[in-house]
Amino acid sequence: MRILGIETSCDETAAAVVADAREVLSSVVSSQVDLHARYGGVVPEVASRAHVELLTPVVAQALVEAGLDDGHVDAVGATVGPGLIGALLVGVSAAKALALVWDVPFVAVNHLEAHLYAAFLEEPELELPLVVLMVSGGHTLLVLMEGHGRYRLLGSTLDDAAGEAFDKVARFLGLGYPGGPAIDAEAMAGDPTAIAFPRAMLDDGYDFSFSGLKTSVVNHVRKNPQVSTADVSASFQQAVVDVLVTKARRAAAEYGARGLVLAGGVAANSQLRESMLDACMADGIHPLLPSRSMCTDNAAMVAAAAWWRLSQDGPSPLDTGAQANLRLPVL
Ligand code: KG4
Ligand code: ZN
Repeated sequence: MRILGIETSCDETAAAVVADAREVLSSVVSSQVDLHARYGGVVPEVASRAHVELLTPVVAQALVEAGLDDGHVDAVGATVGPGLIGALLVGVSAAKALALVWDVPFVAVNHLEAHLYAAFLEEPELELPLVVLMVSGGHTLLVLMEGHGRYRLLGSTLDDAAGEAFDKVARFLGLGYPGGPAIDAEAMAGDPTAIAFPRAMLDDGYDFSFSGLKTSVVNHVRKNPQVSTADVSASFQQAVVDVLVTKARRAAAEYGARGLVLAGGVAANSQLRESMLDACMADGIHPLLPSRSMCTDNAAMVAAAAWWRLSQDGPSPLDTGAQANLRLPVL
């Protein structure tokens, strides 16, 4: 079954064709980063307008690259939330229109579930249960995946999401937008032990808090204006990574997880990937680190999640709307 996936929840316009949730026939991502960079963040109205302009050529390219320019896909899946409402509406409306014209099922996809299925695209036979660390610009969740569509929420952030902390600290340090990749690059030249930034709630349950860390970075730089930006970046990044890895590792041990999955944009972070790999090796747990292009927003993960949802729940009604605040369906 070949599914066309469509993703427009934030600032990437993406379309992909995936066969049976495992074979990526095409995956096209058109990033709007340059459009938003001058504002230092995503401007919702600019994003919606750009999606309207970009979506048709992006879908056409995905179909052509998959060798399906006659449009014969078996279903169309689109991210219906969470995300920017105007941006979501563009993808959802287009997906429904295509499903109607081609007379194939429409599948509503939860963006968070899609991030999770990026791991299954690369390893469809992953053994359950899994602990998933989902770290993106809008979310920081520690999830126990017991079965397909069966999630238990172990913890989440009490304030800023991990990616948001990267973005805010990068903006403060003048490293530009998006902040995650900028700090990742800057940190390469720095010493992660240079500054002892706090590790909030390290031994305290599975929830996270990153706003104190951000404040601590700001205070340190104001008090030490000559400090090396590379050292600040590396030390900040190390503090975030220590907390994420410590909690994910503890959860995997407590719940007897067969594997540990990284998902979401922050999963592209070099230090996080390296530390997670080391931790899994030490603990004898199977690590699952999707390739960087599958960690950040893309439509292949949407098509993969759509396949699982379609096989479990059947098609979604065509009156399913976009939902800006959609949550991961937890038990
Ligand atoms: O999953 P994603 O592409 O979009 C959302 O659904 O939010 O995640 C975007 C977030 C941004 O905050 C971005 O700064 C962060 O992921 N990010 C990174 C890296 N690449 C992207 N954070 C740290 N290191 C990276 N290499
Ligand atoms: Zn995302």
